[in-house]
Amino acid sequence: MNPIPFNKPLLTGHELDYIREAIESGKISGNGMFTKKCHEFFKSRFDFSGTLLTSSCTDALEMAAILADIKPGDEVIVPSFTFVSTANAFALRGAKIVFADSEADTPNIDCTGLEKLITKRTKAIVPVHYAGVACDMDTISELAREYKLYVVEDAAQAIDSFYKGKPLGSLGHFSAFLFHETKNIISGEGGMLVVNDLPYMNRAEIVWEKGTNRSAFWRGEVDKYGWVDIGSSFLPSDVTAAFLYAQLEHLDQIQAQRRALWEKYYKLLEPLGAEGKVRLPFVPDYATNNAHMFYLICGSLDERNELIAHLKSHGIYAVFHYLSLHKSPFNQGKHDGRELPWSDLYTDRLVRLPLFYELSEQDVNRVTDAISAFYAKR
Ligand SMILES: Cc1ncc(COP(=O)(O)O)c(C=O)c1O
Repeated sequence: MNPIPFNKPLLTGHELDYIREAIESGKISGNGMFTKKCHEFFKSRFDFSGTLLTSSCTDALEMAAILADIKPGDEVIVPSFTFVSTANAFALRGAKIVFADSEADTPNIDCTGLEKLITKRTKAIVPVHYAGVACDMDTISELAREYKLYVVEDAAQAIDSFYKGKPLGSLGHFSAFLFHETKNIISGEGGMLVVNDLPYMNRAEIVWEKGTNRSAFWRGEVDKYGWVDIGSSFLPSDVTAAFLYAQLEHLDQIQAQRRALWEKYYKLLEPLGAEGKVRLPFVPDYATNNAHMFYLICGSLDERNELIAHLKSHGIYAVFHYLSLHKSPFNQGKHDGRELPWSDLYTDRLVRLPLFYELSEQDVNRVTDAISAFYAKR
């Protein structure tokens, strides 16, 4: 039987045409024609104020940390159940990372315990919209207003998803998107910084361009450019942007297909959920589902590992991810010792099922049949 991979990057059809167009235009370095087209797309589609493509989501988070002026001694609140970059971008600037637990219902940051983590040194909160499902942004924004904190949304998984009708990525001061090949919209590697507070956009462009005012120079606003601030080389080549633009043109089609597959998984696995054998994903009323991921929560670490092995023996590749960051080797002796039980639970028990555009309905049947057979024996 054909193997079912965990992911298969989608080619929509125009990627190579646009890459050729970029090459024939004679300019394939950063901030070219396709970079501008992508920026315009995000502005018109999601009403984002300022957008800058980056080479990765890590880059976008690092830019946000610079723009928020994070300094040694500052504290930044980050969920423990996330990718290293969510925290590392701020640790790089000398911040102390204060880890928050996840919610019981979703792997998102638990907002009920958030206020207790805020001290005089707290400078920012970094919510991660896990699986593209929004965090409780009203609570986060209210705390940020009251304590004068920056909010940086890690929207790596959150393209085309909404909180109370507002697009994710538009709710914090800054947000970071990801276009890695496992995401809904891809460019191999790639990311984007969104700047929702426009006064920061001028500095953001400088940070993006190695600390120089080259963007202003290209627009003819200054007659020469030079070193005006700190920064790095955060912008991707226009070849990457050309690939990305071809994907963006198919956003609706991609999302419709992913949602249909997600719904099918949910419907077929609902009986197992009802029997209490697994937990299915939960989407709060305030959030939408962008079908980035279909995950299950198993009963234990052993059960999760046995399920992954069972699926593999049927040619189906399921994976797990995120290891509680507060328990990571880098944080030995740095974390304050609080237990974060939900983060640990998701670390041990979450399993992600194959979900990609070209997955067929029969593939979904095969995956869910194999899962049902596994639980029938337990
Ligand atoms: C939540 C989250 N944030 C940030 C990143 C970093 O993205 P990149 O690989 O583009 O640097 C990842 C990568 O998996 C992620 O899952």
